[in-house]
Amino acid sequence: MKIIRSIKEMQAFSLSAKRKGGSIGFVPTMGALHEGHLSLIRRAKKENDIVVVSIFVNPAQFGPREDFEKYPRNLKKDAQLCEKEGVDIVFYPSAKQMYPEGFKTYVEVEELSEVLCGRSRPTHFRGVATVVAKLFNIVSPEIAYFGAKDAQQAIIIRRMAQDLNLPLKIKVMPIVREKDGLALSSRNVYLNPDERKSATVLYKAVREAADLAKKKISDPRYIIQRMKQIIRREKCARIDYIAIVNMSDLKPVKKIEGKVLLALAVYIGKTRLIDNIIINV
Ligand code: PAJ
Repeated sequence: MKIIRSIKEMQAFSLSAKRKGGSIGFVPTMGALHEGHLSLIRRAKKENDIVVVSIFVNPAQFGPREDFEKYPRNLKKDAQLCEKEGVDIVFYPSAKQMYPEGFKTYVEVEELSEVLCGRSRPTHFRGVATVVAKLFNIVSPEIAYFGAKDAQQAIIIRRMAQDLNLPLKIKVMPIVREKDGLALSSRNVYLNPDERKSATVLYKAVREAADLAKKKISDPRYIIQRMKQIIRREKCARIDYIAIVNMSDLKPVKKIEGKVLLALAVYIGKTRLIDNIIINV
């Protein structure tokens, strides 16, 4: 396995791999890798000749009062995990290379970026779309892998790839969870032991919603109310949003029928956690 830090070198590698007819599977990450990331890497490994994993804590997707500085970084451990999974290239660019002086171009996916997580993180998805577009241009993958954990992100990236005619396939893999249901996240390390216990409330609320939907309860307001009751039992939990939306435009649905996305964000202490489920009735 090789760690490539230079954009030029990464582009040259991709070009030569393509000339030799090798397909590239790509997993973009911000590092602090866990089983969620590894599930994407394993899938990429199965489906491609070459697997590239990028590790870049992207300043453009963090708000001014967010956790950019304290976001966990551990290249050595991440590289070991990648090596064990048979990754070919870890692409590890610097922020200076990705955003050199004079950088002015951003990718804006309208409307989809403004709702749900976009409400409390107004510049977040512009940062995500921009960096992912840049990474796609640098790595030139045939297939790029994303997690359903960040459902809105995956929907936005799909829209961007379609709108900008990017010649690649986007695959979205299921959420990997801890035994007690908490979705794996690099941010879970911020939780103290009490908060860690309280954090299971997101999944409890998601399960309740799924159960109610299965029982043919189709009023989203009722389901959201029940979820709020569950979450409010935890003292350190504060709801950012709970929404039941259409999968294509992320607009709230009036009635639960067919395929809908239930997504929520909850602060556990100071840590903002997200979770979601696709309900299909
Ligand atoms: P990061 O949070 O490191 O996540 C990288 C990828 O792993 C994302 O596609 C995310 O959805 C997926 N992932 C995270 N936790 C997961 C889980 N529990 N189960 C399944 N997949 C999971 O998402 C980002 O980085 C960034 O926004 C990025 C796309 C790299 C752009 O900077």
